[in-house]
Amino acid sequence: MEQSRTQKHTVVLVPLPLQGHMTPMLQLGSILYSKGFSIVVAHSEFRPPNPLNHPEFIFHPLSDGLSGYQACIDNLMHLILAINSNCRAPMEDYMVQLMEDQKLQGHQVSCIIYDSHLCFVDSVATHLNIPGIILRPDMAVYMLAFRYICQLEAENRIPFPESRLLDPVPELDPLRFKDLPHPITKEIPEWIMDFFASSVNIRSSVAIILNTTDCLEHSTLSRLQQCYKVPCFPIAPLHKLGAAATSTSFLEEDQRCIHWLEKQPSNSVLYISLGSIACVNEQELTETAWGLANSGIPFIWVLRSDSMDGSQLEYNFPEGVKALLGERGLIVKWVPQKKVLAHSAVGGFWSHCGWNSTIESICEGVPMICRPHFADQLSNARYLTYEWKVGLEIENVLDRGSIEKSIRRLMVDAEGKEMRQRMSVMKDKLEAGLQKGGSSYESLNDLTEFISQLPSMVQEVKVDDPATSVSNNLIQFEGLKNLV
Ligand code: UDX
Repeated sequence: MEQSRTQKHTVVLVPLPLQGHMTPMLQLGSILYSKGFSIVVAHSEFRPPNPLNHPEFIFHPLSDGLSGYQACIDNLMHLILAINSNCRAPMEDYMVQLMEDQKLQGHQVSCIIYDSHLCFVDSVATHLNIPGIILRPDMAVYMLAFRYICQLEAENRIPFPESRLLDPVPELDPLRFKDLPHPITKEIPEWIMDFFASSVNIRSSVAIILNTTDCLEHSTLSRLQQCYKVPCFPIAPLHKLGAAATSTSFLEEDQRCIHWLEKQPSNSVLYISLGSIACVNEQELTETAWGLANSGIPFIWVLRSDSMDGSQLEYNFPEGVKALLGERGLIVKWVPQKKVLAHSAVGGFWSHCGWNSTIESICEGVPMICRPHFADQLSNARYLTYEWKVGLEIENVLDRGSIEKSIRRLMVDAEGKEMRQRMSVMKDKLEAGLQKGGSSYESLNDLTEFISQLPSMVQEVKVDDPATSVSNNLIQFEGLKNLV
């Protein structure tokens, strides 16, 4: 712990209550705590983080009017919009109170770090003259890809011709049009375009933190820096910089799989998981089960209770395959994924290619079978299969024969061994970035310094707004330009 700041500087975190977003935010909190900041987490009541996993943080629930809400793949944007409109007032009330309390103790709120989808935080931060910083839990190219969709729309190029989907996207090499985060061959409703535009608008935020690193996205990060005239801090992998043992899962982790892995030979097990949101239909589950059984490869397969088309129905495996699967692997609802991937018995990861899963796999040198479903998973898969050549993609038709073949290609064939070697090189590069002098190590130091200096950079300027005849508080950050 760096004692110099002695917890007098408080950082407020505002996470989005989805696993792939909550995890990196809490990891960042742990890192900043270890650097001497006090951490306050202001979160929605819907899917709160577990305070017992972080006794060092202060947690504050924001009333969100979402009681009884069931989040699923089809209503994620509605969830985000509801949080944005319902949490603004409670957040402002809380911040006013927190700032008063902090002042009495001789402490100060240095900044609010918030998920890029939660634009209501920017409005609160601006109103109260607190610097806001955005956390992006994904690759830098994802932000540029959304900007590109907005550009296509502005140029009236949506609907985009199906015949050109395999063409490269100018300036987003190696992405093709089909790898963009939303289908572009049909009209995109206006409210969805507004949502996209909002997610790449940093408003008055003074910096962007990204869970990516220079060694993965050097040129993309330069481009991003040209687009956004505020400091960008690529710091990854976040989970390797913070407290290793702390769980950030919403679901209970089944620890039995680790004991089971102890009995398996090195690199023999295929780990299968589609993250926290993606789901599949009954036919795909059946074909996957048969392909897996016929491959003869030991496995751990995470099937959440809502993995089948988002319903809460338990999937009943056909009798024949059930016996075969039972002999050779485990089917579980949720595992401690980072521990599973770090286990020497795991030799491959069949993944939906969410960014957390992807970077966790790279960190442990585990090659992948890529089955992307939506959003950044498409571009992540493109990088894994084409740019880094550490994964193979199963596209379109999913039948048991092609699944069995893909599994054996990864787990048994020479092709899989080569991918594992390339993953191992990537793992070494990520580790080097975490050492003194490495890009993530230095970027984290820069961020720490930047946040420490924010309170002294904030100047209050009163400006009369002729339209409303009220005083707006604007904030200026002296010296900020030097950091860009
Ligand atoms: C979402 C999006 O889908 C993803 O594309 C985006 O990059 C982040 O937000 P999600 O689908 O949940 O996330 O995938 P991912 O980013 O991979 O995050 C899943 C997290 O859950 C990982 O940190 C993984 O370690 C964890 N996990 C998953 C477990 O701890 N146990 C499990 O059994 C499965």
